[in-house]
Amino acid sequence: MSSQAKKVFFANYTFYVEPDVYEPAEDSFLFAENLTVEHGEHVLDMGTGCGILGVIAAENASSVVAVDINPNAVRCAKENARLNGVINKMSFVRGDLFAPFKVGEHFDLILFNAPYLPSEPWEGTMWIERAWAGGADGRAVLDRFLQTFPWYLKAEGRVLLMQSTLADLEKTFQVLEAQGFKAEVIAERSFPLFETVVLIEARRRTLQNPRSAQFFLDVI
Ligand SMILES: C[S@@+](CC[C@H](N)C(=O)[O-])C[C@H]1O[C@@H](n2cnc3c(N)ncnc32)[C@H](O)[C@@H]1O
Repeated sequence: MSSQAKKVFFANYTFYVEPDVYEPAEDSFLFAENLTVEHGEHVLDMGTGCGILGVIAAENASSVVAVDINPNAVRCAKENARLNGVINKMSFVRGDLFAPFKVGEHFDLILFNAPYLPSEPWEGTMWIERAWAGGADGRAVLDRFLQTFPWYLKAEGRVLLMQSTLADLEKTFQVLEAQGFKAEVIAERSFPLFETVVLIEARRRTLQNPRSAQFFLDVI
């Protein structure tokens, strides 16, 4: 870690955070406090940042794959996995959402504390801005994630997704519903006059009667 790295503490864990990597904030801590992982689960930590969620998940998981578009985040997460003693359970991939994966790789649990803030067109050129910049409506990355994650989720799997009320929460529920998922808010934190961040848990409602891909595309 560089001398500029900050130290962040959560429970018994310590994370070093490089300057161009998202520093765990209220959303990360709310997610971490409500993160449940069953023993032996195969977990995907999308947008791992400094690795906070993946490292915590690795306590119970059999394996965790941590992905980030920011190469500095991937390096930082790997170092934090080593420092927190879970490096043997984790692997690290730099890439854009699910692009690094072959169809056919399936996870029990997919985590994503997404970039969910409405942003200006020029935001997103710096790596650190990719942590929050969600395009004009805050949904640029969220919608791409929602379109793709079901292909990588086991039939009985679940997704934990964090977003803000500033990025059209209703649309997220509509899209999940259209894809045959039952979704609920399992935790939230309000920042009065600004936003509420919510942690959504979603599972497939039924395997026998999935809605058609066209129905989903109509909603998107
Ligand atoms: C809000 S931060 C969350 C970081 C960490 N999981 C946490 O909770 O503290 C969002 C993360 O998603 C990453 N990210 C943004 N767009 C991405 C994409 N298209 N594919 C993969 N990761 C992405 C960012 O680089 C950033 O590390």
